[in-house]
Parts: sequence; structure tokens; C-alpha cells
Amino acid sequence: MSRPEDTLPPDLHYNDTEARKYTTSSRIQTIQASMTHRALELLDISSPSMILDIGCGSGLSGEILSSIDPADGGPHIWVGMDISASMLDIALQRDVEGDLMLADIGQGLPFRAGTFDAAISISAIQWLCNAESSEVSSTGRLTRFFNGLYASLKRGGRAVCQFYPKNEQQRTMISGAAIKAGFGAGILEDDPGTKNAKLYLVLTVGGSAEEGAGEDITGVVKNLDGVDVLDARRKHKEKGRKDFKKGSKAWILSKKEQMERKGKVVKHSSKYTGRKRNIAF
Ligand SMILES: C[S@@+](CC[C@H](N)C(=O)[O-])C[C@H]1O[C@@H](n2cnc3c(N)ncnc32)[C@H](O)[C@@H]1O
Repeated sequence: MSRPEDTLPPDLHYNDTEARKYTTSSRIQTIQASMTHRALELLDISSPSMILDIGCGSGLSGEILSSIDPADGGPHIWVGMDISASMLDIALQRDVEGDLMLADIGQGLPFRAGTFDAAISISAIQWLCNAESSEVSSTGRLTRFFNGLYASLKRGGRAVCQFYPKNEQQRTMISGAAIKAGFGAGILEDDPGTKNAKLYLVLTVGGSAEEGAGEDITGVVKNLDGVDVLDARRKHKEKGRKDFKKGSKAWILSKKEQMERKGKVVKHSSKYTGRKRNIAF
């Protein structure tokens, strides 16, 4: 079966008709609600918090954030970001309580550093694996998103992103981009091996040693079944910065890689890359 992510960009896929169909489907409402509750459980927040809902759509997930009982640590205040004007229009008509922003998360997150206590994203970030034009790369979009998310969260903050990767490569691409941005990361899989399997990327922003919170992803997910801890920060640190001689082939290749991560289109590398030119008279 073809995936909508492979067919159209999200803002075109979620047009007025699709957005209405999505929001009024009771099957979708039930699934999205149960995944939102699972994400909240993984966030493990005990008091009313400021939460970013990434790819909030018509507010199905946000609505749950507003309705959490004080006894369960709610209700939460939330800000929703989405690229589809039709989805946000329905959220407005449904009078959701969060503030809504029409924006592409692949361009980064335009918030002051440390604005949010936590973030959730339900069924949205796999869309970033598809770049809509040849001027941008999906790696660059993922990098900008996770760098922005990392900066927008308070130290010790957490994010839980439920997502539907198309394949193992997308799963690795997404979790790899999160780790590169500095997050401690773990993937939790519910109902693995079934057609109802659900993946949750659990992310922590390093807290200070005194706070003790958020320092290590294993603290978040260690007692849960089906958890794959992906914390590669130590490995990154050990590898350290590579110092290449300016102008050398290795230096040029690492610059090209850096530009690619920023979403720039760079020329393919070949055996001629970095080769000295003959002096022309
Ligand atoms: C399956 S819907 C989920 C909506 C909502 N989270 C829910 O649980 O009902 C996916 C949403 O992600 C949004 N989305 C996809 N790519 C996006 C991007 N680059 N920036 C912002 N939103 C995006 C889509 O517009 C759509 O509303």
C-alpha cells in the first residue's frame, strides 16, 4: 500500500477534505488518543507543564494535553506547530485551547531557548524523511528540526515522538539525527512484530548534575519492555573533533558533509575532489 508521505508533501496531502476526513474518523481518534496517552506516560511529568505539540494537526493530541486531570499532573499548556493550514483551521473551529502556529518543522523551531518543559509528536516526524525539492535534503531537514527542538527544551526536558518509519533506514536516520543534536535517545516499541506495532523515540536533554534529571536516557526507559537504548553521546565525545589539514581532500569532504547536514545541496564527491589543479599559463 502506498504511503501518503511518498505521494505528496504534507501541506498538500492534508487539504480541507483530507483534514476533515482524518479528524472525524472515530478509528483515527481512538488510535491517536491512545498514542498520546502513551507519550504522556513516557514523558512522566508530574505538574502542569508547557508542552510543544509537533505536527499537532487538528489538535487531537493537544486536546488531551488540556484535559489531563490535576491529580495526574495536568492540565498542560501547549503550543502546536503544523505545516497544514487545513488541519490548523479545523483545530481553530474545534476551539482547542493551545496556541497554533503554521510552520514547517523542517525549517527549525522559532522559539526562545528553553521555552518548553517537554514536547510530544504523534505520527508526524516521518514526513521529514521526504524532501520536497532538490534544494534541500531530508538529512538537513531532520538536523534543523532536532537542533531546534533541543534548543527549545529546558535542560532536563524530555520529548516523545511516536513515528512511522517506512523502513530501517528511516528509523536510523531519524534517531541518528536526534543523537547528533545532543539528545540522549531510546526507542520503545509497543506490540513489536504485529501490524499494530508503534515506535516511540524518547529523548532527553542533559540536565545539570545537581538536578540529576534527564541525564541519562536509561533512567527514562530502563524498566520498560522492548526498549532499545541509543545513547551514542559518549561515543561521539570519544571520537572528538577531527582536525584535517585545511585544503586537504579529508578537509573538503568533511566541509561538504557539514553543508549537507545544514540542508545545502553539495556536488557529488569523486576521485577528482580536492585534487590539485595544474597551473595554467
Ligand atoms: C497524521 S497527522 C497527526 C496529527 C496529530 N499529531 C494527531 O495525532 O492527530 C500528521 C501531521 O503532521 C504534520 N506535518 C507533517 N510534516 C510537517 C512539517 N514538516 N512541519 C509541520 N507539520 C508537519 C501534518 O500536516 C499533519 O497534520
